[in-house]
Amino acid sequence: MLDYYVNAGPIADALTSGGEAVIIRGWIHRKRSSGGKQFVIVRDRTATIQCIVDKAKVSDAEWKAMDSAYLESSIILRGIVRKDERAPGGAEMDVAELRIVHSGEQFPITEYQSPEFLLDVRHLWVRSQRLIKAMETRSYVFRYARKFLDKNGFYEITPPLLTKAGGETGASMFEVDYFGQKAYLTESSQLYAEAMIYSLEKVYSFAPSYRAEKSRTTKHLTEYWHLEPEMAYFNNAKNMKLQEKLVSYMATSLAKEHEDILQAFSVNKDDLLKIRPPFKRITYEKAIDILNQKGAKKQWGDDLGVEEERMLTAEEDKPIFIYNWPKEIKAFYMPVNPKDPRTVLCADMQAPHGHGEIIGSSERIWKLDELLERMKEVHLNLENYQWYIDLRKYGSVPHAGFGLGIERVIKWLLNLDHIRDAIPFPRLINRISP
Ligand code: 4AD
Ligand code: MG
Repeated sequence: MLDYYVNAGPIADALTSGGEAVIIRGWIHRKRSSGGKQFVIVRDRTATIQCIVDKAKVSDAEWKAMDSAYLESSIILRGIVRKDERAPGGAEMDVAELRIVHSGEQFPITEYQSPEFLLDVRHLWVRSQRLIKAMETRSYVFRYARKFLDKNGFYEITPPLLTKAGGETGASMFEVDYFGQKAYLTESSQLYAEAMIYSLEKVYSFAPSYRAEKSRTTKHLTEYWHLEPEMAYFNNAKNMKLQEKLVSYMATSLAKEHEDILQAFSVNKDDLLKIRPPFKRITYEKAIDILNQKGAKKQWGDDLGVEEERMLTAEEDKPIFIYNWPKEIKAFYMPVNPKDPRTVLCADMQAPHGHGEIIGSSERIWKLDELLERMKEVHLNLENYQWYIDLRKYGSVPHAGFGLGIERVIKWLLNLDHIRDAIPFPRLINRISP
């Protein structure tokens, strides 16, 4: 019977079965033995269940196999599930037949391990309850993002990740030897998304971005997943409205559909249900004032670091926008604010409680002369950007877009201490393996 493992069902179904024999398959999560019985907790994708293996009721070979099986062995079991209030999950299985599919070697992860070791064995640690829940969340957040943009008339586009054109100030890029030519891993797909609005009008790319920043913080990855919508005929105000709707959709959908996950991370469902538009909007100038009132010594023109972001959002329950930043600390493609030419028409979204910037956004310079002037000012090699400059020569239109760091959003939604647990195989400055 156990050979027919294709007939095995999910543990979640077994837990509610009505006394008939069921077959489950999964991995040994915990086990202990006492008085001729082994109590084995088996997990699969859907649930965990305690299985009782009684020496008197299984064969000698089965008993021995179970006795010597290591944690994380794969296993198939047949038996009857009995309701039992005391059991975790409210039911347990009396095992009639079992087979260890693979026992292999002793699992290297035991109860207390250093974070560094857990990163070394990340390929195994992804089986932990914490990471299972975090990766489940990641999958949902990806889905919500695509669903929202789909419903709002966007097309998904796929940009190249190898490029010669960068976009962001300050962010350094990983260089690649492209058959003797100098190329880079992309730090943003925005410039390519811009090229696509002239046909599809509202587009988004959802792809990795690479940052060779030597930032050793709890919110920087060197490879992260970047959601970048770009829209024809949008200005800063309309852009912000779209962003708050998207972020609200992600937070409230997770709260409504997956309260169990939130509980596992001690996140209050109601806190996420409150994430609804409108979000507070303050100018950069106002942000500097607030910071100085709170005792920070900041001058107009300074960029904001982790500590300033925390000071600005520690008391906030919802994300906030900080808009119209000084031109010098923002990227070349942002247009000057006609009402204050020291600033550009842009907005960053900051997550509450100090989780930091989750979105960078702006209008884009759409007039040729203005773009060329600005590119020269910041000494870009125009040769690598000819195609981007071209976009301002044929039917250019006002447009805007934004980039959302999906791991930053997950870090905030689950209140994670470190961004590394928002991605299965984090790339950090000191880690590129496994
Ligand atoms: O603010 P950034 O650098 O903006 C851009 O790249 C624009 N081209 C986006 C656009 O308008 N299409 O990055 C956007 C977002 C940040 O707000 C942050 O959420 C995330 O990308 N991000 C990172 N996430 C993880 N690790 C890093 N090192 C990140 N750098 C940026
Ligand atoms: Mg930014």
